[in-house]
Amino acid sequence: MKKFVTMLLALVMVLSLAACGGSDGLTVEKGKLHMSTNAEFPPYEMVTNDGGFEGIDVEVAGLIAEKMGLELVVDDMGFDAALLAVQNGQSDIAMAGITVNEERLAVMDFTDSYATGVQVVIVKEGSEVTMDNLGDYTIGTQLGTTGYIYASDTPENGGYGEDHVIGYETGAVAVQALVSGQVDAVIIDNLPAQSYVEANAAAGLTILEGTWVEENYAIGVKKGNEELLNAVNGALNELKADGTFQGIVDKYITAD
Ligand code: ARG
Repeated sequence: MKKFVTMLLALVMVLSLAACGGSDGLTVEKGKLHMSTNAEFPPYEMVTNDGGFEGIDVEVAGLIAEKMGLELVVDDMGFDAALLAVQNGQSDIAMAGITVNEERLAVMDFTDSYATGVQVVIVKEGSEVTMDNLGDYTIGTQLGTTGYIYASDTPENGGYGEDHVIGYETGAVAVQALVSGQVDAVIIDNLPAQSYVEANAAAGLTILEGTWVEENYAIGVKKGNEELLNAVNGALNELKADGTFQGIVDKYITAD
């Protein structure tokens, strides 16, 4: 009997420890902050030569995790999958240069915005494609992104119709399709666009003058998990307030 009481006491202690373990009980894995992303989106997230991850989102998420007393784990997957992972409770945060829009707000919650982006058009130098005749050509985009959503929308809504758009698994593959002539243009966020144009200098790519509306990037969390949202948002805002966030941005975005 005595042994039983001791065991019971130990169990109660373990349970109560778990219950008040700070940010611990909040996340899908104890002591960890899982970030789902699609690490093909420079300078926000990319894979390093040794198979690690880097980029603005990755570094900021690492510091958010640190402030929460957690260790960051980056889960790299398709962009659509990264959004679904938070909704399904498989990751704690989705951070992937994610544009906040109404469809996404309906299925997940977002922190305050931490960056802006705009969709731009990449073409081959000397190409006949312009902002005005884009609809006469074939456009490559990354599946599930706002670039895909705008471009594949009906002409009445400012799009070009699904027949004119090919959705690729990643932005990098869409750009390769442009280089090899499978598509005539790529619509993608401005900073990755610049990075891909530079990375493919030999192919002679250029970004057309003109952009779509400005979008806001934010961190996605599972809908209704207010405690986690507040903890992540609080940490993010601290990083913004003390200049740490800007320091990271400056490191990755060198003005030219
Ligand atoms: N901002 C765009 C969107 O939310 C594209 C994001 C793509 N991100 C990525 N990591 N591949 O749809």
